Amino acid sequence: MSAHFQADWLSLREPVDARARSLALAEQLASRWPAQQLLRIVDLGAGHGSNQRWLATRLPQPQYWILVDHDEQLLARALAAPLPERVTTQTQVADLADWRLPTDPAPDLVTASALFDLASRELIEKLAGALAKHETAALFALTVDGQWACLDDTGSPLQDEETDQVKALFNRHQQQDKGLGQALGPEAAHVLPEYLARAGLKVSVRPSPWLLPAGDVSALSLAQQLLTGWAIAAKAQADHDGMEIDWIDRWQQRIEQALLSGSLGLSVGHVDVLALPPG
Ligand SMILES: C[S@@+](CC[C@H](N)C(=O)[O-])C[C@H]1O[C@@H](n2cnc3c(N)ncnc32)[C@H](O)[C@@H]1O
Repeated sequence: MSAHFQADWLSLREPVDARARSLALAEQLASRWPAQQLLRIVDLGAGHGSNQRWLATRLPQPQYWILVDHDEQLLARALAAPLPERVTTQTQVADLADWRLPTDPAPDLVTASALFDLASRELIEKLAGALAKHETAALFALTVDGQWACLDDTGSPLQDEETDQVKALFNRHQQQDKGLGQALGPEAAHVLPEYLARAGLKVSVRPSPWLLPAGDVSALSLAQQLLTGWAIAAKAQADHDGMEIDWIDRWQQRIEQALLSGSLGLSVGHVDVLALPPG
């Protein structure tokens, strides 16, 4: 089963992603090259371009980007968005299951955001080896770590047994094959830095959680869609495991009411990973 995403969903998450991402890692990356050097950059699973829109403005160098995705319509939207003059963009419709790092020449940077929970251990291992071999830097943002929580009105995680059960079901559901081999789901948050380091790259990891506080009306649509997605996946997993599912609908209604009344918020854990060739 291959993974397709709605442009509306990607747009809803873009400003929250932008707030969550590690500026320190982007600055460390930018300082690696002289300001005049043309950077060749590949964005894997680029979608409608939000990773490029965030990162391109934070790299002072002239940049030549290749945005890779299997969804042609999302890529067309990416091309329509305004970017600084120093940025040139090309798109490539491709299945990442068959994608290989270009080597003639290899890019200076491979980047991705919100991708690696869909990927298998084997894909990550192969990519890490190719990056190290060709001395290509990597910035992989916003890999979910499975640590989502409901927040009370002081911003503290709510202790709630049903929420923990839904989370466990959802996280297991994320480990089905999403078209890139057996998906790691939230395990990708530690497998990704581990394999990049094992391949010989210098790896830095920073937390990049989404924080959607109680009463934040601007985050309500995203919070509601998250909740719906968690409930659908948890029900599918519960059904698959032969468990009762009606309680998940009741859980969803209870949490949604609390979100709408402003007494609950949500947090979703992610990590950003920078990997640099040594020297
Ligand atoms: C969660 S979205 C992230 C998109 C974008 N990087 C962002 O942060 O908004 C994952 C992206 O990976 C793409 N994708 C998933 N599986 C793919 C595959 N097998 N080959 C190519 N692209 C894939 C989807 O089309 C989608 O655009």
